[in-house]
Amino acid sequence: MALMRGLRSFSVLGTNYARRVMPSQVMIARATSNMQPLSKNKEVTITFVKANGERIKAKGKVGDSILDIVVNNDLDLDGYGACEGTLTCSTCHLIFPKDVYDSLPDEPSDEELDMLELAYERYETSRLGCQIIMTEKLDGIEVRVPATINDARQT
Ligand code: FES
Repeated sequence: MALMRGLRSFSVLGTNYARRVMPSQVMIARATSNMQPLSKNKEVTITFVKANGERIKAKGKVGDSILDIVVNNDLDLDGYGACEGTLTCSTCHLIFPKDVYDSLPDEPSDEELDMLELAYERYETSRLGCQIIMTEKLDGIEVRVPATINDARQT
């Protein structure tokens, strides 16, 4: 078996051959497989609409969570993201327009649904911002910030 390390097999006219794979080829293959897609650095915007009507537009990058965008822009959203994305607080609760909610890339996990149960002003289109990863498709969305938040760690 040790003899097979570093060998790749191929077949010519029904005859099997083995070709040595150079370590540098393996390293190049590993390096390229870990590269991020180019769209990873694409800028996206999101607008937070507070209960008082104030609108806060912020920029982030594809691959950022909404919590990342709030933190990186030092947005004035009182108490938002208290548990830093560890799914223990529900302070990152946001309400999405129905069409945006339906287009979110992932369904909420059981853990997120449990936390949402503890959020105030919960809607059918509520999600936790720490669990939403921005994609190019989500560029330009608006989300509502509930008037009150519940830090589930203190209940
Ligand atoms: S930041 Fe605490 S649950 Fe999202």
